Parts: sequence; C-alpha cells; structure tokens
Amino acid sequence: MKISFKKSLFAVVASSALLLAACGSAQNDSNKSGGNEKEKKVLHVGTEATFPPFEFVDKGEVTGFDVELLKALGEEAGYEIDIKNTGWDSMLAGLDSKDLDIGMSGITIKKDRLKSYDFSNPYYESEGFLILFKDNVEVKNAEDLKNLKIGVQNGTTGAEAAESVVGSNAKNISKYESSGLMFQALLSGSVDAAVTDKPVAEEYIKQNPDSNIQSVEDKERFKPEYYGIAFQKGSPYKEDFDKALDKLFENGKYAEIYKKWFEEEPNLDSLKDAKSYIDSLKED
Ligand code: ARG
Repeated sequence: MKISFKKSLFAVVASSALLLAACGSAQNDSNKSGGNEKEKKVLHVGTEATFPPFEFVDKGEVTGFDVELLKALGEEAGYEIDIKNTGWDSMLAGLDSKDLDIGMSGITIKKDRLKSYDFSNPYYESEGFLILFKDNVEVKNAEDLKNLKIGVQNGTTGAEAAESVVGSNAKNISKYESSGLMFQALLSGSVDAAVTDKPVAEEYIKQNPDSNIQSVEDKERFKPEYYGIAFQKGSPYKEDFDKALDKLFENGKYAEIYKKWFEEEPNLDSLKDAKSYIDSLKED
C-alpha cells in the first residue's frame, strides 16, 4: 500500500517536473521574439468590448481588430498584453488611477483627451459617424435629429457629434454607458436614432440584417477621426508602441490584420500624414 502510494506520488512529481520543463521552454521561445531572455512585462489593458469590429466578446474572449493589433504590437515591442473588458468609464478611470497601463477601445485622439492621456500615433482612420434609425422614422441628415429621441454612448465623440446638432444635454438625448446598450435601445424602440462611429454602425447593420435599421451619413457635419492607443500621461510605453506600429506598417503585419477585419487594404499614407494633424492638436 505504502509503496504504491509513494510510486504514484513519484509519478505526479515527475510529471509535474516535465510539465514545468515544457512550460519553461515555451516561455523561452516566446521571449526570443521580444529580443530578450527576461520575463516579459505584463501590460494591463482596459476596453469597452461592445464595439465590433474593434472589440467585442466572442465565446468569452475579448477579440477584434484592436485586440489583435495590440497583441501584435506587444509582441513586437516585447510586452505581454492582458486585456480586460472593463467598460469605458472604468477604462479611463483605470488610466487616471494608474491601475491600467493602456486603454484600447477605438479611442479617438482629440484635444481635450490629449491633456489627460498620451496617445500612440494614429492606427485607424474612422470616416466620422453614421446616424442609425428605425425604418418607421425618416432621417435625411443630422438636422433631423432635432425632432427624434436619440441614443449615444456616454463620453464618446458620437455623443458630442449628436450634441453639436441638438445642444448639449438636450432633452431628447439618452446617454448609455456602453455602445451595446445604445444599440439595444435602438432595437427595442426606446430611441428612434443612434449616432456612432461609421465602421461600427456598418458592422452592426451587417450583423443584424433583419433589424430593419437604416443609416445615413452627414459628411458636412461629421468629419473623419483617428484612433490611438491611450496611455497614462508620461507613460514609458508610448515610444515602444509607436516604434512597433511603424514596424508593423512596414512589414505587412498591420495590413494583414486590417484586411482580416475590414476586407480591404489600409491607406497607410493617409495614416502617416495624420501624425502632423495630431501634433497640431497638441499645440497650446
Ligand atoms: N471613437 C469614439 C470615441 O473615442 C467611440 C469609441 C467607443 N469605443 C468603445 N469601445 N465603445 O469617443
């Protein structure tokens, strides 16, 4: 009895030693790509994952264009990425309190945000916003929002765009804490229209062909925007990620991820040109 217990104990110890050895070698391999033999530093990332195709939850995992791009950038720069679906407000609060290193959430680089956060160079050009509406209402342009119940995601540029038409905190605006709740409100009829980033609106229509949701664009009012990775002010990581982004632009990895999610070639020249526009936002 005793002997067989000892034997099986030995077997357990031996096999865990093997397992440890196996893990050890996997670790070493993955460290090679980062160019050092040390353990990779884990960067804690927050996101609001109801914003497909940029970030959403699929089978319990946060995935999407942003997530794949950030992981590839982490790999290139030698960091481990730990991304959590924190929600939008907690993501920003987590950067403020320094509990999070990074916010990756289709975040538009804009003047007031640049005062509180550092941003990577632009990694995506969003063509502005779409107004989404149920087929029982008529919307020709942004002006029509004045007469409708509108839903937006709180604290986003879509909310600002809608408020630029109807006035800030207008009675007919409902602000939702996530993009997903805004879409639900539109579907259930709690609001007549929603304003959100064009690529996300297009994806929503594609994924919900039976919802009878229509869309309209107002290029006069709603201008293109650029997404960036948000860091704490003075973050040591911004530079590494900017370098990694340039590298992935050059080596085709960015284009590969972009094509997977958007089924077209990225316009790298226009993204690179946008750097000077972003720099101009930092002035004064
Ligand atoms: N681009 C817009 C902004 O920065 C909306 C981002 C919303 N992102 C999200 N994951 N819900 O304000």
